Amino acid sequence: MSKRKKTLVKRYDLPDMIMHWTVAVGFVLALLTGYAVFFEGTSALLVNEIGVFIRLLHRIGGVLFVVAPVLYFIFSKKRFGFLRAFKWSKSDLGWLLAAPKHYFVGGDSMPPQEKYNTGQKMFYLFAVVFGFLLAISGFILWFNWFSATAQLIFLFIHDVSAVLLTLFFFVHVYLVIFHPADRMSFNAMATGYMDREYAKNSHELWYNEVKAQEVKKMEKNA
Ligand code: HEM
Repeated sequence: MSKRKKTLVKRYDLPDMIMHWTVAVGFVLALLTGYAVFFEGTSALLVNEIGVFIRLLHRIGGVLFVVAPVLYFIFSKKRFGFLRAFKWSKSDLGWLLAAPKHYFVGGDSMPPQEKYNTGQKMFYLFAVVFGFLLAISGFILWFNWFSATAQLIFLFIHDVSAVLLTLFFFVHVYLVIFHPADRMSFNAMATGYMDREYAKNSHELWYNEVKAQEVKKMEKNA
């Protein structure tokens, strides 16, 4: 076994990472330009060409946010991988009960987790549901598909989805960059590989699956 394989486990393939980072760039672009248009103070500054340009950037962000997962779904063999986030088991209940102390006080071990822990599954579900509502309402507003009253309803859906996703987005980014329990996961989305010890401790059920596959592969090649 190479040194890299000894200390790291494969977590994401290149298409997974390209999809995730394109969504992230699209979301941040749409977020910044969207709030600039949303708040009265900044919106008043967006006149003439500046306003047109900011609104164009908002649409470009929205397109990146949607196109990446759609292309991934069409071309990636792992297109149904997101369904992992919809499968819940007893260990998720254990996680929910132990999480407040674990995250806010520290210490205390958590019940063994799958590829995504319960918190990640909840974020995944939120991203899929509110990401879909955000995108569909955005395109309806962009192309003016319905009457003025209906457009107002879609504007409300667009704004509520955007605010909820923004809150979850900040929690997500805080956890993977700053929180001592989760920040080791950043490398996984940056390089595709996760530290073996971290995987064993934080995603034991998934790690056991990966380990079993590695053993099978080694036996086949022996
Ligand atoms: C700059 C912003 C972002 C950073 C730094 C970031 C970072 C990460 C990292 C490191 C992971 C891997 C976690 C692991 O495998 O344990 C991840 C997973 C994920 N990201 Fe992001 N992300 C960002 C933006 C977004 C956005 C905008 C969305 C969608 C709205 C998103 C959706 C997801 C989902 C659904 C997962 C899998 C479940 C999870 O780990 O929570 N991310 N992200």
